[in-house]
Amino acid sequence: MSLSARDQAALWHPFTQHQTAAIPVPIVSGKGAYLVDENGKRYLDLISSWWVNLHGHSHPAIAKAIYEQAMTLEHVIFSGFTHEPAVQYAEKLLAILPSQFTKVFYSDNGSTATEIGLKMAYQYWRNQGQDKRRRFMAFERGYHGDTVGAMSVGKSVGFYPAFHDLLFSVDMFPYPATWLNDENVEVKEQETLNKIAQYLDQHAAETAAFILEPLVQGAGGMNMCTPRFLQKLEKLLRAHDVLIIYDEVMVGFGRVGADFACIKANTVPDIICVSKGITGGFLPLAATICQEKIYQAFLGDTFAKALAHGHSYTANPIGCAAALASLELLKQSEPQRAMIEKTHQQEIANMAARVAVEKPRYCGTIAAFELNLGGYGSAASRTLQNRFVEKELLIRLLGNTIYFLPPYCITEAELKKAYKIVAEEIQGVIA
Ligand SMILES: Cc1ncc(COP(=O)(O)O)c(C=O)c1O
Repeated sequence: MSLSARDQAALWHPFTQHQTAAIPVPIVSGKGAYLVDENGKRYLDLISSWWVNLHGHSHPAIAKAIYEQAMTLEHVIFSGFTHEPAVQYAEKLLAILPSQFTKVFYSDNGSTATEIGLKMAYQYWRNQGQDKRRRFMAFERGYHGDTVGAMSVGKSVGFYPAFHDLLFSVDMFPYPATWLNDENVEVKEQETLNKIAQYLDQHAAETAAFILEPLVQGAGGMNMCTPRFLQKLEKLLRAHDVLIIYDEVMVGFGRVGADFACIKANTVPDIICVSKGITGGFLPLAATICQEKIYQAFLGDTFAKALAHGHSYTANPIGCAAALASLELLKQSEPQRAMIEKTHQQEIANMAARVAVEKPRYCGTIAAFELNLGGYGSAASRTLQNRFVEKELLIRLLGNTIYFLPPYCITEAELKKAYKIVAEEIQGVIA
């Protein structure tokens, strides 16, 4: 039996309607920006394998760090015990974040990172006797993961109608998405800020935090906003004492050009959630990082004030070793990230000139545009998706959105060639 057939007999895949989905492509190895299937076909990975891979597949430096750590210490309970990779990684991560951040809380995926951020913010107020601050604010089309809290703050993304009755209520605000030559951007930003200001005038004393994906909303459609908007938003929320949680699960570790979106936007939230690129795509790991005032609010004589959260694999030593190796590579990747951004800048304009694309945009190493395909799961979108696979490109459409989010090891020639093929395939399907 082929691997695909065995897969179909035994497996249930994430975010997949198995009745209509294509048979999964059996991948046997990965090297650099390529994944190789069982017939030897090589796919150029333009989405970093669900946005996790930073430096290329099977990078030897990360593989070696994992091997060495596995031979030394593979796991130890992280309550009451500690170890060098966890401490060292926290120190190094804090060193590249704004100096206001002082504590790292580990977990194992993006959903848990945001879930912990929400719990931290909620209990922060409770621990100080401000029990009324229970509301959360979020942006429409934001996505923060698939656990119950994360779904609640991300419910407007449209993935979860089956669970709506289960979710807690969250106040949503329009996201001022922008693109190249968008003449309306300042108006949209002001409208959103006005709505938020109005809300805060009424509800600030009941509000715990605002959670958002800074600069780029991922799963909601690679929607981009300006640093200027984030700066104004920060000012507004600070004036009302509402905590700010940045979900940098997708944008962290260089995706937006700078190491983190908060740095690029010149803003300092209270809590930052990271995962995905943290280990360069090798192992599940996540971190929720906070300012000292948050940590201090959890200190007390009894357990009641402690953060009741933990996972069996919290701060897994092998994951932390992979993260340390990935961080070293991140420091060397700046020229590559700059090249990717420059190529996006040129190619996204070329694409807009050649094909009827809408809202072309880029931010650092991420570029996106819209096509009139009929939305999620439409026949046109499935056809296009399959054509990309036939052309040996790994691209995953988000409804009408096509985006590029490649690993940093991709070459300029590879990226340019991918843009050319994508334009040709779109012309084939849309024409
Ligand atoms: C911004 C953002 N937050 C949270 C998550 C959830 O991460 P995970 O899939 O690792 O649970 C994702 C995943 O796509 C994400 O893009």
